[in-house]
Amino acid sequence: MGVRFNQDANTFILETVNTEYQISVNEIGIVQHLYYGRKTFGQDMRFQNTFPDRGFSGNPYERKSDRGMSLDVLPQEFSGCGVGDYRVSSMSVKAADGSRSCDLRYVSHVIAEEKTAIPGLPSVRQNDCMAAELRIELADEITGLQVSLIYDVFEEKDIITRRAVYKNIGNETLVLEKAASMSIDFPYGEFDLVHFHGRHCMERQMERISLTHDIHTIASRRGMSSHHENPFVILSEKDATEHQGDCYGFMFVYSGNHKIEAEMDQAGSTRVVVGIHDENFSWQLTKQDEFYSPEVILSYSSQGLNALSQNYHKIIRDNVCPPKYQTIRRPVLINNWEATYFRFDTQKILDIASAASELGVEMMVLDDGWFGKRDDDNSGLGDWVVNEKKLPGGLKVIADGVNALGMKFGLWFEPEMINEDSDLYRAHPEWVLADPGRKPMMSRKQMLLDMGNPAVIDYLFDCISKVLSDANIEYVKWDFNRSMANAYSNILPAERQGETAHRFMLGTYSLLERLLKAFPDLMIEGCAGGGGRFDAGMLYYCPQIWCSDDSDAIERLKIQHGTSYGYPISSMGSHVSAVPNHQTGRVASLHTRGVVAMSGTFGYELDLTKLTEDEKDKIRQQIKDFHEYYWLIQKGSYYRLTNPQKDDYYTAWEFAAEDKSEALLNVVVTHVQANPQFPCIRLQGLEETALYQVAGTDIKLTGAALMYGGYVIKEIIGECDPIERGNYPAFQIYFKKSE
Ligand code: DGJ
Repeated sequence: MGVRFNQDANTFILETVNTEYQISVNEIGIVQHLYYGRKTFGQDMRFQNTFPDRGFSGNPYERKSDRGMSLDVLPQEFSGCGVGDYRVSSMSVKAADGSRSCDLRYVSHVIAEEKTAIPGLPSVRQNDCMAAELRIELADEITGLQVSLIYDVFEEKDIITRRAVYKNIGNETLVLEKAASMSIDFPYGEFDLVHFHGRHCMERQMERISLTHDIHTIASRRGMSSHHENPFVILSEKDATEHQGDCYGFMFVYSGNHKIEAEMDQAGSTRVVVGIHDENFSWQLTKQDEFYSPEVILSYSSQGLNALSQNYHKIIRDNVCPPKYQTIRRPVLINNWEATYFRFDTQKILDIASAASELGVEMMVLDDGWFGKRDDDNSGLGDWVVNEKKLPGGLKVIADGVNALGMKFGLWFEPEMINEDSDLYRAHPEWVLADPGRKPMMSRKQMLLDMGNPAVIDYLFDCISKVLSDANIEYVKWDFNRSMANAYSNILPAERQGETAHRFMLGTYSLLERLLKAFPDLMIEGCAGGGGRFDAGMLYYCPQIWCSDDSDAIERLKIQHGTSYGYPISSMGSHVSAVPNHQTGRVASLHTRGVVAMSGTFGYELDLTKLTEDEKDKIRQQIKDFHEYYWLIQKGSYYRLTNPQKDDYYTAWEFAAEDKSEALLNVVVTHVQANPQFPCIRLQGLEETALYQVAGTDIKLTGAALMYGGYVIKEIIGECDPIERGNYPAFQIYFKKSE
């Protein structure tokens, strides 16, 4: 396993437990893609190569007599540009003389046992996993551009990561106009493209489209990974389902502009290119300069979408998120946002905390409105100094009060933003991203700081550090509430303005890195108007991200379902909020809201001082249940049993322990009917011959019966007393393997 080089065949073989990836270098130095899929058991896949003479597909000069050799149809690992490959290119470079062609050929390779980190960028951590790294160096003789293709193989996890490093080894300055992280050509097969689109309050909705000829683009130009298109796609065999069929995942470890292109070409081959969006992008490489593109996490499953998701859940939990959260339990929290919005004072926050502590909640989070002049969302961003008029004695009074209740204290920030009406803007208008002489686009009355400016990073580090040092703050909610526009930096010369958006992300990552180094026990939860920056880049710093500003349990079924294709349950910030729900006006029971929120990091977001005794008892029980199921939910194998985008009767999902010793089935009825059809749910991930006891009953059923026959929720059809009716009943059924 790992990486092997077969010198006789000039072929690289990358192997994981269940998958194999083959690359070869052909006789003119083109690095060819041969194969990615199930194991071939030593077969050299070059036998699949074909070289037909296709009209209008020209030939490299040295093979001008060989009309079958064309870059236009050859399956490659990374294409150059302007030299006869008319499919979507991996890169584009402008040389000093204005030429824009680049013919990348093999130069050398290195195989190593260690994974190298990417300077300034988040990436998959090796931790204690077996990994092997392959680095293939390509270069274009004329421009002097070198491109290193880097592959890291996580054998046990069925994961291969890819990225590219661009280096100017020539004498003249080069300008990268597109610098993708990876490209792959699947010579054969017909695919669907599965992507996750959305909008504010309805993020990551799965859409499956048939990949037809020409280019399909999944992208964000918003300076953030976005609510609108997540930087994760799946290429699936046409008839692949949740549990069978070939699926390939591509997840970008990046939080800024992205572009994922999938093209089916004239010959029926499919190319996928993943990288930073090339619109408004350029990067100047002076002599010996390097550009590091972000990493892409690839995985392949022959057993459908669910198994692919589980591969991503594991790699993100174990190797992307900060490692300590593999074993640390995260606190059940109460956030005051939907309880108070901007209308709070010290006493109100302490009252909520006090009510929360009696219920077993473990952390109080103070949301927006504690700093500067911030009584609404029109002013104050950038002034990270506590508003003592509102909170006399500052945050220490609150943090100490919360700690005295036996709870942790957390605080909201939105570091990358600034209001026009702020002391920071009055002092440093030049720190804002805005075009010279043009009024910037406003959104929520705020603008973006130029995070590429080291002075801005120093300012933010200093003032956030001061706040974090002045009181016992153990958690930060890191928000980001608008899309980027007017991406002009005052510290960059005209010819480098195309670097602004990427430098913004590098600045944000550097600030996160610096703060976590200075406050190693701090936990950061990502957020961007809900889940507008839910990506593997942010998860490198934040073990959890607020999944959506839509806290309605029924809407959340769809949002959390879509999110689960790429991201683990342990990463989804999910809270029980008040009814009628503030976003939709819908009323769902506290139980139902609890069942849905528990399939995430779990917390509350309502005024706990206003609860009835009955509600308090229910919440105490919910928190007890969550603690009991904590590791099963956070680390168990997750199974989507229905699709809430299609099935309007009920939504079901399950957590099964990896050792198959227990499982938790969750069901929410989304369409209550007077005389419903039989609801029989087939479980997954159990041991066929083992007996599982249904919690709270004497019933014992075999794993096979539960998986192949199914569990009937009799309460839904009214066979039980009391009949569970009313709005959106929910069921949480625990199965334990009996000895
Ligand atoms: C958007 C977040 O998603 C909300 O949870 C809340 O923190 C607000 N911002 C505060 O402005």
